[in-house]
Amino acid sequence: MSDTHIKIFDTTLRDGEQAPGCSMTLREKLRVAKALSELNVDIIEAGFPAASPGDFESVKTIAEQNFGPVICGLARCNTADIQKVYDAVRHAEKHRIHVFVATSAIHREHKLKMAKEEIIKSAVGAIKLARELVDDVEFSPEDASRTELSYLAEVVSAAIEAGATTVNIPDTVGYTVPAEFDRLFRYLNDHVARIEEITLSVHCHDDLGMAVANSLAAVSAGARQIECTINGIGERAGNCSLEEAVMAIKTRAEFFNVETGIDTTRLYPTSRLVSNITGMHPPRNKAIVGENAFAHEAGIHQHGMLQHASTYEIMRPEDIGLAKSSLVLGKHSGRHAFRDRLIELGFELDEFETNRTFQEFKKLADKKKDVYDGDLESLVMSAGGTSSGPWTLQSLEIQTHTDRPATAAVNLIFEDGSEVSESAHGDGPIAAAFQALEHATGVELVLKNFELHSASIGEDAQGEVTVSVEHDGQSFRGRGASVDIVEAGCRACLEVMNRILRRKDRGAAGTPADDSTRATI
Ligand code: KIV
Ligand code: ZN
Repeated sequence: MSDTHIKIFDTTLRDGEQAPGCSMTLREKLRVAKALSELNVDIIEAGFPAASPGDFESVKTIAEQNFGPVICGLARCNTADIQKVYDAVRHAEKHRIHVFVATSAIHREHKLKMAKEEIIKSAVGAIKLARELVDDVEFSPEDASRTELSYLAEVVSAAIEAGATTVNIPDTVGYTVPAEFDRLFRYLNDHVARIEEITLSVHCHDDLGMAVANSLAAVSAGARQIECTINGIGERAGNCSLEEAVMAIKTRAEFFNVETGIDTTRLYPTSRLVSNITGMHPPRNKAIVGENAFAHEAGIHQHGMLQHASTYEIMRPEDIGLAKSSLVLGKHSGRHAFRDRLIELGFELDEFETNRTFQEFKKLADKKKDVYDGDLESLVMSAGGTSSGPWTLQSLEIQTHTDRPATAAVNLIFEDGSEVSESAHGDGPIAAAFQALEHATGVELVLKNFELHSASIGEDAQGEVTVSVEHDGQSFRGRGASVDIVEAGCRACLEVMNRILRRKDRGAAGTPADDSTRATI
């Protein structure tokens, strides 16, 4: 690989998924892994196999697909963790074990209660063990940016001696600033023997809003791998955003003099996929993938744009896969046009799923004149939810009044064809509808969060609802979409109820993450 190539190490499925509200089912993780491979990332960190049986299963299943990128799993410096990563990732043709241990004084004293020499010994032992299993081993000194420089250089030297092929420098708590990080990388380059034989990597968190800037500073100082996530999701303020780092390198190629292998036209669809799955939608003004990123509303800007796009536009929308117009289909659109557009949006559905989604599309096109990309994404994301039963929502009737409780009546069809009708009162229409669903299905949920997002534009836009609920002490997330927001909420709630019932049916005692292990992508 040339010295100007920057490897993109995507950790959406590990560091990103670790963030509250971002957990994904196996089926969702497979969709994301496939999208990441179409984006052409170099490495996918698919999870932390020792964290839970569900994590192990998902890393293994992703590895088995052999999508193309190197599949990596995270391990602490102990035999059990390393063996688990190996058992999970070995199914991929190209695989990596990533071991880490904290090195800063704060972590040494308060978390690990280990002396400096003990930490080096533990790291060296872990790297050697991992190297007995695989050729590709990455080592991370956690909280490197707050570690004494001379000790950090000692740790990195020992890691290289032990056989690490990539050494990653994390700014674990998002504390550093670009000039300081530049100094750190230059110090390592000057003080660590054989550093040119390994890939130096960077991993930044965004607590001070500098994850992308710090990652780029590291690249200028010699890093050749960036660890990042789609939409910058991750613990606390998140990780370095993949799309921002990649587009900065592409747009300012004459400054950085490096390149990534990313197919940037897949950035927008991948961002949408991840936000639809996690329910975490980037703010409208987010760089690259925010809804306003390419919108020019000020008259003076529009005038300039009409004269020549480059007056105010440093990137073209099509470079990130954002179609000029997202108005696509209507009531008279045929199955072919529908399927072609889904493929352009990055969804490859099988015959059965296409037919089912096409029927939903026709129903939607009857309700609203113009069907936008966002509406189509919503339809695909909800297919496989409520529609895979056992319960299907047949009808919903709501009555609200400013000074009386709301009333909801639902009619549901069970998979054997039988019907159940229930009604309930509640403080508002959502509370009433959820109670009616609970009576009908027998599944009780505690609603923790209800988020509403508009899937497209205009007054008749579909509402996308993401609900976070608890059942028997476990957390679940469900999604639903409709032009009626109460109905969207009901669909989201029923999706969770159906998943709980399907799991009970299989007698599964696993985590929510493994509730769709039978699903294919
Ligand atoms: O932020 C961090 O330090 C990490 C390491 C495990 C790489 O995520
Ligand atoms: Zn991290």
